[in-house]
Amino acid sequence: MTNLVIFASGNGSNFQAIIDATSKGDLHAQIKGLICDHKDAYCITRAQNHQIPCVLFNRKDYESKSDMDEAILNQCRLWDADWLILAGYMRLLSSVLIQSYPQRIINIHPSLLPQYKGKDALGQALAAHETTLGVSIHYVDEGMDTGSLIAQYPFQIKGDEDRSLIEEKLHQLEHKIYPLVIQQLIKEKP
Ligand code: GRF
Repeated sequence: MTNLVIFASGNGSNFQAIIDATSKGDLHAQIKGLICDHKDAYCITRAQNHQIPCVLFNRKDYESKSDMDEAILNQCRLWDADWLILAGYMRLLSSVLIQSYPQRIINIHPSLLPQYKGKDALGQALAAHETTLGVSIHYVDEGMDTGSLIAQYPFQIKGDEDRSLIEEKLHQLEHKIYPLVIQQLIKEKP
């Protein structure tokens, strides 16, 4: 069985979609653990609800970012991770992690990359009056949403749609495609 470690900082709805896909048997993988960097993040409750171990990393406990990522790497090795799955993890990874898992760290981002990298990608796209929005799944490198693309899924909106409705559409799309893409990747490279 392929071992996944999920990285999340917030709500964790994508984490939940991955949990659900493994429970349903649509995703043939085991979630070994959650790495989280915010003690109050709801993704921790989701992990607890499903008896998934969670390890919290507080940046203030480490002298440098790479020290923290060394500790995260040790935890991923303890879990015997095959793939690291970023799902709303709000930090760049240091090279210590990237180089230890070459082409085995992926992220989901709510824009059609390379457009609208970084925070509030949806807000950036809406401010630019885009009517074609989308979601990208990409390999993670040291940059901010700069790794090579794996898959992209565009969708259309009407100019006058409510942001909350658009967000809902976007999340529904994310929850559908992320587990599918992960399954495809691990089928090729367990
Ligand atoms: C998602 O929109 C994802 O694309 C981005 O962060 C958000 C995380 O949402 N990287 P959630 O925590 O999975 O609900």
